[in-house]
Amino acid sequence: MHYFIANWKANHTYSTSLEWMTAFLNKIEQDAKLKTKLENNELTIIIAPPFPFIIPLKDIVKHYGNIHLASQDISCIEKGKYTGEVTAEALSGHVQYSIIGHSERRMNFNETDDLLQKKVDLANKYGLKTIYCIRNERDLFPSTISLLSYEPVHAIGTGNNENPADVVDVKKKLNIPPDVPFIYGGSANKDNVDSYLITNAIDGFLVGTASVDPIEFYSMCASA
Ligand code: PGA
Repeated sequence: MHYFIANWKANHTYSTSLEWMTAFLNKIEQDAKLKTKLENNELTIIIAPPFPFIIPLKDIVKHYGNIHLASQDISCIEKGKYTGEVTAEALSGHVQYSIIGHSERRMNFNETDDLLQKKVDLANKYGLKTIYCIRNERDLFPSTISLLSYEPVHAIGTGNNENPADVVDVKKKLNIPPDVPFIYGGSANKDNVDSYLITNAIDGFLVGTASVDPIEFYSMCASA
């Protein structure tokens, strides 16, 4: 199984998110090989839009078995008087996955390991699968995560993707539970995706910049 995860970050408006989805699904519809991989559980595509677009996009992707939505984050709070927070319970039933611990949140919003553990516990409590991000082999991760995404900070959004052999070396140093897929993120794009897949050690990609354009992201999915 390969995972291709589109992390739109703070890109797209409501109208461009709908345009993205239309263009992306048109490409999928025209690609019998890719559709077969989705149907045979060889490929899972996950799209992480900004919160307000989740419900309308869910209604569009629900017709596709292995195309799912993720939230880009969840609150560490379960419920209550916390203006602006979006809880795991609120997202439950609307997304299948949540990205937790992205380095941009660790850095810009001071998210700590303790806080991330609370998010993972809440995601698990409310039935959301977790895409847990680490920045290096020293970052800890809870044992109860669904996918582990290694994203070296120097490679994120810079065009300097990490050498596939170095990614595989990092994977070897991590004590990843056998059923947890290992994802790479950091300037992955349609031109370098094959160099990772050929290692047979990388189960998928968390894609930022190259996921903003639906055709480029489709090209990555098609290379699996
Ligand atoms: P990038 O972002 O593909 O733009 O490097 C990856 C990520 O931050 O998830």
